Order: sequence, then structure tokens, then C-alpha cells
Amino acid sequence: MKILAFAASNNKSSINQRLALYTANLIDNAKVETLNINDYEMPIFSDEREAQLGQPKEAKAFFNKLAEADAIIVSFAEHNGTFTAAFKNLYDWTSRINKSIFGNKPTIFLATSPGPSGAQSVLRAAVESAPFMGADIKDSVSIPNFFNNFDTENNRLINPKFETKIKHAVAQLTNSVVPVVYK
Ligand SMILES: Cc1cc2nc3c(=O)[nH]c(=O)nc-3n(C[C@H](O)[C@H](O)[C@H](O)COP(=O)(O)O)c2cc1C
Repeated sequence: MKILAFAASNNKSSINQRLALYTANLIDNAKVETLNINDYEMPIFSDEREAQLGQPKEAKAFFNKLAEADAIIVSFAEHNGTFTAAFKNLYDWTSRINKSIFGNKPTIFLATSPGPSGAQSVLRAAVESAPFMGADIKDSVSIPNFFNNFDTENNRLINPKFETKIKHAVAQLTNSVVPVVYK
């Protein structure tokens, strides 16, 4: 199973990137790939820029990366209660190639922040947007107070309550992926 796990954040030391990769690496026999949305940066979307630039190669590359995965794990950083501008811009450009950017693949949405809200607001927005994005959501989990609940030296969750939630999400995802059988 090929899992694409990434953060909807352009922070180089993103805590959501850590959470997405930690979660993906819990999956047995999976080939885990990641991406950095900084590699797909484009000008802020506008109708005029689209008329000028068409479908930028960065949007096509991001779309193709999603298309190659069997399942997807995204962890959303929250800026002022919603998506980071970096992710939203990438989503907007990519949605002009195909509205269902996630290709109806089994998906887990996660979110974390250093504060007590655990980026629940962006997670709610992401889950509500999932049908528009073509994400087949199997589960969603928010982790509050990241630095109290995640051991950044050993790269693992240390709060059993959240560990259980993440493992449950992983089980939901893996149970839904139908392996490709080669003859
Ligand atoms: C402009 C800005 C707005 C933010 N707004 C929120 C917010 O609404 N809720 C929240 O929990 N954290 C907020 N934060 C803190 C982020 O959760 C924190 O920077 C976190 O590290 C972002 O995740 P990342 O490391 O994966 O990028 C904000 C940070 C910035 C820079």
C-alpha cells in the first residue's frame, strides 16, 4: 500500500508534518511517501493569473503526486481558525485541474497545534470540505497541546488516549484500502 502523508503547512519544522509521518509509519507493510508543500508554491490564485498561467506545473505535479497514492494522510496546520494560506492556494490552483483533488481515495485528516484547541477549527473546515476535495474520509483526529503529547526526540505520541485515537484512524484507513492483485 502506498501512503502519501503530508502537512498542510509551509513551516519547515512543521509539527503537523511530524504527526502525519508518525501516523503513516504505524501502518504495516506500507510504502510511506511525503511531500513538502513549499515545493509547489505558486502566486496567489486569481482568475487573471489563471488566464495568464493556465495550469502551472506545480499544480500538475501536486495533483499527480496525490493520484499515485493508494491512501492519503493530511495533517492541517491552523492559521486564524482555518487553512494556512499556503495550503489553500495550492488547493485552489489544483482544483482547477480537477475539483476532486484527492481522487476519492481513503483519507485520514489530522490536525495539531501547540495550544489546547488542537486546531479543531481547521479540522472541522477540512472535514466539511472533504466532499468538494474528493477525499473519502475514514477518520479525523485532532491532537491538542502537541508538545505535551508528542515526544519530539523519539518522534512518537506519549499520551495513550491520543495514541489509541490515531491507531483507530489507521485501522479505519487500512481496512478500507483494497490491495491491487497482480495476476
Ligand atoms: C498567523 C498564525 C495564526 C495562527 N492561528 C492559530 C489558530 O487559529 N489556532 C491554533 O491552534 N494555532 C494557531 N497558530 C499557531 C499554530 O498552530 C502553530 O504555529 C503551529 O506550529 C502550526 O503548525 P505547523 O507547525 O504544522 O505549521 C497560528 C500561528 C500563526 C503564525
